[in-house]
Amino acid sequence: MTRFVPSGPLSGALRPPPDKSISHRAALVGAMAEGETEVRDYLDAADTRATLEAIRRLGAEITEVGEPGSLHLRIRGVGLRGAAPAEIDVANAGTLLRILPGWLAGQPSGSWVLDGDESIRRRPVDRVADPLGLMGATVECREGRYPPLRVTAGALGGIDYRLPVASAQVKSCVLLAGLLAEGETRVTEPAVTRDHTERILAAAGAELESVDPRTIPLVGGGAARRITIRPADRLDPRRIVVPGDFSSAAFLVVAAALVTGSAVRLEGVGLNPTRVGLLGILNRMGAAVEVEEDPADGAEPRGAIVARHSMLAATRVHPDEVPVAIDELPLVALLGCFAEGTTVASGAAELRHKESDRIATVVEGLRGAGADIEATEDGFAVRGTGGLRGGRLDARGDHRLAMLGAVAGLASREGVEVVGMDAAAVSYPGFTDHLALLAGT
Ligand code: S3P
Repeated sequence: MTRFVPSGPLSGALRPPPDKSISHRAALVGAMAEGETEVRDYLDAADTRATLEAIRRLGAEITEVGEPGSLHLRIRGVGLRGAAPAEIDVANAGTLLRILPGWLAGQPSGSWVLDGDESIRRRPVDRVADPLGLMGATVECREGRYPPLRVTAGALGGIDYRLPVASAQVKSCVLLAGLLAEGETRVTEPAVTRDHTERILAAAGAELESVDPRTIPLVGGGAARRITIRPADRLDPRRIVVPGDFSSAAFLVVAAALVTGSAVRLEGVGLNPTRVGLLGILNRMGAAVEVEEDPADGAEPRGAIVARHSMLAATRVHPDEVPVAIDELPLVALLGCFAEGTTVASGAAELRHKESDRIATVVEGLRGAGADIEATEDGFAVRGTGGLRGGRLDARGDHRLAMLGAVAGLASREGVEVVGMDAAAVSYPGFTDHLALLAGT
């Protein structure tokens, strides 16, 4: 158990760790390439280590250069059609679990088993098995829905697929399979999700087009974005630069917004518009958060975020905002505790399929710290009381819950005991050190 006591003002500048989503993709695309790919600032954390081990087993060669906290890599790929048959342990990495099958499904032949930890075994994979099956691969899952799963390659044909849920992982899986399919593959998403895969593939020479048919938001949905990808002979990414992780930075941004007197600067943070939905939410709540974009380097925008303590007002998170703020919604619940009024998130049933059931664990965790919060079927409602008493929060093995508990502790009146703080190492190994640095303790 780790105790986070009420903090004095947070101040100073630091660089959050590299982006987890982009690191997974950089390793996979590096493995799919024929020549050597240089990856600048790969995330050195448990999840992304699992991806390196996976591509090694598939035949890629990796040279690591770097200091703790970030890595520079040289990856010698096996080519688009050269993945060796293997058993893959994805550990806790849902992104690896759901994206990798897209590549494997289109190999000339072979079969692969993917499995992971206890939390991975509760995460649905029928959402990737279904489209890959329609394309011509065979994907067998436990009880038709859960890992372990076995992917058996087949001759793939392009499909026109409408995602039943707005998921960047499923979209990415189908796009990778589309590279290896005959004819065009088209994916339509019901709401815009993170587009790191599209950016990294386009930079590696893949032919893909993206259109946004919905220029006016329609009540009840309609296509938000449609991506078309054509088959490729090879990928040539050469150099991939990974920006800082907005989702990791978000914990420090929210800590600064909540702890009286704070002013914090976070540098080199990824500012891809499909990731930074939290900034719009913070803005509506009245938080003093500013962004300074850096000159372009690579396929992803990045820059500095400056966050200061502010008085907050409640807000409503719109369902269309959910995918672009999905991993930050636990933080919105915490912000809601300090805001005036009732903060509501809806259309977020996907939270139930994350590293934990994040509707249940956020509500249970923040209640244990004194919050007035209720779960709904597809989100939560939290009544702001101007602060948080403190108490105890069980991370339930979920890295984002552990970090939520720590931030809640710093901003609370009595402190928060976090059970299972070590889970933070899945995405942010130096998290408690960074908090201590900003708190000057
Ligand atoms: C991710 C997509 C999101 C997100 C996850 C990472 C990705 O999941 O919650 O942390 O890297 O594509 P879904 O695709 O399931 O929404």
